[in-house]
This record gives sequence, structure tokens and C-alpha cells, in this order.
Amino acid sequence: MGKHSGKGVVVTGGSSGIGLGIVERFLQDGAVVVIADIQAPDISELETTYPGQVFYCKVDVCDESMIRSAVEELLRHTTRLDAMVNNAGIINVAGLSDTTAESWLKMLNVNVVGVALGSKVAAEYMTKDNKGGVIVNASSGGGRHGVPMFSQYCATKAAIIMMSQSFAQELAPAKIRVNCYTPGHIMTPLWEDIVEGMGKKLGKSRDETLQEFLTTVPWGRFGTPADVAATVSWLCTDDAEYISGQCIGMNGAELPW
Ligand SMILES: NC(=O)c1ccc[n+]([C@@H]2O[C@H](COP(=O)([O-])OP(=O)(O)OC[C@H]3O[C@@H](n4cnc5c(N)ncnc54)[C@H](O)[C@@H]3O)[C@@H](O)[C@H]2O)c1
Repeated sequence: MGKHSGKGVVVTGGSSGIGLGIVERFLQDGAVVVIADIQAPDISELETTYPGQVFYCKVDVCDESMIRSAVEELLRHTTRLDAMVNNAGIINVAGLSDTTAESWLKMLNVNVVGVALGSKVAAEYMTKDNKGGVIVNASSGGGRHGVPMFSQYCATKAAIIMMSQSFAQELAPAKIRVNCYTPGHIMTPLWEDIVEGMGKKLGKSRDETLQEFLTTVPWGRFGTPADVAATVSWLCTDDAEYISGQCIGMNGAELPW
């Protein structure tokens, strides 16, 4: 029996990177999981290893009705929504002079509105049977401190921390906990955009750019999706019952955090 046996979980942005790592971890822990992502995942192996536990629903997190359909898909396979992981997010590497109203709105829409709508829909379903639940939102180390060339990303990730704290207080009477995670440098496809953007700015190759980022991580290696997923899974257990409104980093001792 896994620690999440019989529980129902929706993971946005679960087709790739950290989200996929979170999906795998919840499956190992026994949950039924719906991947809510704009791009379809390759989950044939997961479907074989975890029959009847993993499903996909095409979702743009900016569209509330699509998020609702992901929860409805989950409820076709299990009894309730126990945890919602609002993990989907995008990045834009751009100096201030290269930002536009359009790029600001796109970043705000996916990263902030997407998490807000995911939290809203989750709270709606979790209150239906008075059993509560857990919402976990993806912020970033960049939500705790500004980074040159990443102002749009940092602004949206800081908003997620404040939103999560507000929701945590608002939803506590309904026994819904809301926390966020702030990963440091986790090697995923998102990093291709970062390395490309920063490599161009620094005039460095892919490997040189990666090496430069690595020197900022005292632990001496980049993080993996599994490093993040273990904590997200734990946050959704009863061992974390008194933890809400918090922001937990996984960053190999990187500063500032
Ligand atoms: N990788 C890191 O180092 C790092 C560090 C800090 C925070 N994060 C955050 O963790 C989360 C996951 O990042 P990742 O590195 O795995 O990225 P990724 O690019 O590998 O995966 C992101 C996923 O989100 C999906 N997505 C994008 N827009 C969407 C939308 N509108 N609706 C639904 N799905 C959408 C993508 O299709 C993709 O599957 C993001 O919120 C990111 O900001 C990542």
C-alpha cells in the first residue's frame, strides 16, 4: 500500500520535466493521477507499469473550464480530488528593453492566472464533501529574489507565493492546505530556453553556460524532477497536516533562498 493509495491527484504541466516527475512519484505512492497539460505526454510505459492509475486530459491552464474537465476526468476513475498540483509554468529570458505588454500578459496569464484558476477549481471540488484537500503550487527561487533577464518570470513566481499564502488562510477553515515549492536549478526541458537565452547574452556555448549556472549550486549538481517530487508528495500526506501557507525550496543550498 502506497502512502497515497486510493487518492486522486491532478498535476498541471505533468507532461514534462518536474511535472512528469511529480506524476511518477504519485503513481509510485499509489494515487490515481490525471495529467492536465497543453501538450500530450508519452505515458505508454507509465500506463503499463501503473494500469488504471494514469490518465491525460488536454488542458490550457488559462481556461477554467478545461481545468474543470481534468478534475471530471479524474472523478471518472476515482472518488475524489485529494490533491491538485498547479505545476504548469513558462519562462521568458528577456532584458527589460525586450519585454512587451504582450509578453508580460502571456507570462502573467499562464504562470499567475493559471495557478489561481487551478486553485479555485480545486477548492471548489475539495469543499463539496467537507473532506478538504491539498493544493501545491509551483513557484521558484526566482520568486524570492530578482534575477537580471528574468524579471517577468520572477514577478509571476513571487505572485504565486503571495497568492498561495492568501489562499492558505482563506481555505484553512475548509481544511484545505495550500503550499508552494521553490525549486532551484532542476534539469528539465525548460532549461533549454534558459541556456539558449543566457548563452546568447553571455556569448557562451551550451556547456559553458550550464557550467556557469552549476557554480552557483553548493551541492555540486543540478536538481532532478525526483528531488522536487519527493517533497511535493510528502506535502500531500497527513505528516504535513499542520503545514500550510509555506514555501519550500529544493535548491542544493543555493543562495539566496
Ligand atoms: N526547472 C527548473 O529549474 C525550475 C526552477 C524553478 C521553478 N520551476 C517551475 O516548475 C514548473 C515546471 O517546470 P519544468 O522545468 O518542469 O518545465 P517544462 O517546460 O519541462 O514543463 C512545463 C510543462 O508545462 C506545460 N504547460 C505550459 N504552458 C501550459 C498551459 N498554458 N497549460 C497547461 N500546461 C502548460 C508544458 O506543456 C510542459 O509540459 C514551472 O512552473 C517552472 O516555472 C522550474
